[in-house]
Amino acid sequence: MTAAPTTRVIAASEDTAREAARCLAAGGLVAFPTETVYGLGADATDGVAVARLYQAKGRPAFNPLIAHVPDLAAAQRLARFSAAALRLAQAFWPGPLTLVLPKAQSCDVADLALAGLDSIAVRVPDHDVARNILSAFGKPIVAPSANRSGHVSPTTAQHVLGDLRGRIDLIVDGGATPVGVESTIVACLERPALLRPGGLPRDAIERLLGHPLAEAQIDAEDAPLAPGMLASHYAPRARLRLDARDLRPGEALLAFGPPLPGNAGATRNLSEAANLIEAAANLFSHLRALDAAGATAIAVMPVPNDGLGEAINDRLRRAAAPRTNGL
Ligand code: TXA
Ligand code: MG
Repeated sequence: MTAAPTTRVIAASEDTAREAARCLAAGGLVAFPTETVYGLGADATDGVAVARLYQAKGRPAFNPLIAHVPDLAAAQRLARFSAAALRLAQAFWPGPLTLVLPKAQSCDVADLALAGLDSIAVRVPDHDVARNILSAFGKPIVAPSANRSGHVSPTTAQHVLGDLRGRIDLIVDGGATPVGVESTIVACLERPALLRPGGLPRDAIERLLGHPLAEAQIDAEDAPLAPGMLASHYAPRARLRLDARDLRPGEALLAFGPPLPGNAGATRNLSEAANLIEAAANLFSHLRALDAAGATAIAVMPVPNDGLGEAINDRLRRAAAPRTNGL
């Protein structure tokens, strides 16, 4: 057992990519921004580094990780692409889309990172800091969201520090992440299926494919296909009441558009202009802010379900679900 690391925070620059790569090569854990949320990176090929990563997050070992790579060619060394998968990658990478694909024979990602599955989740992030680290490192980086398991995903370096100080080696601070919700996950094992709505809206994917996505096959008894879809995953401490059309005594307010009348405790507005892109970018930091303000109950105003609204509503439902355990 190694001693708890001192967590250093450095501002993103040309040199930080090399420093991050050195830390990863030494088996270290490095948090960095992607366009969606901050990821907690480890050398994907180093089983010991991956084990440290699960431990730092407090993540159940059955929950597999996304391998981040700089481009399609690198992804093709890890996974087998169907024709549909190739079209999706060519249209949307780099960008907030993760593809779950059959593992390729040449895949050198540690078994532990794949949690025993013969499929692998791959993604090419669209953020300069992430891309510079990936090219400086030269190997795939597994990176779950850089939060303690069961907490909301971090969209700033401060969020990461709050959750993981003393548990990871390095945080590269590249400012707030622009998209604010995690990547959309599509499995291309048989018919393309939506496993997790996210930063790339479903209709963009369906328009490209020319047909609707199948829904995720989740067997509640068994290991789910996307374990991150377990009901209560993205959880603030406060209780959430969704689709609130009024304010009850003692409630804080998470507004969307013009706020509900009445006396809320703490209030945060996802987007006063009712803009879903702005709302996605604000979602996790506003939930954290209301938690930090000591809210015990949060009334959440309705958010329309189109475009990024599907991902926002998915995260809100999970945050509101009764807690199962420390997932
Ligand atoms: O935007 C994102 O995707 C961020 C940034 C850092 O890239 N990452 C992220 O990772 O959200 P994570 O680990 O928090 O969520 C990944 C999800 C989990 O629900 C996991 O179960 C699922 O992807 N997953 C990974 N590999 C899978 C596989 N082979 N089959 C099905 N689901 C998989
Ligand atoms: Mg996560």
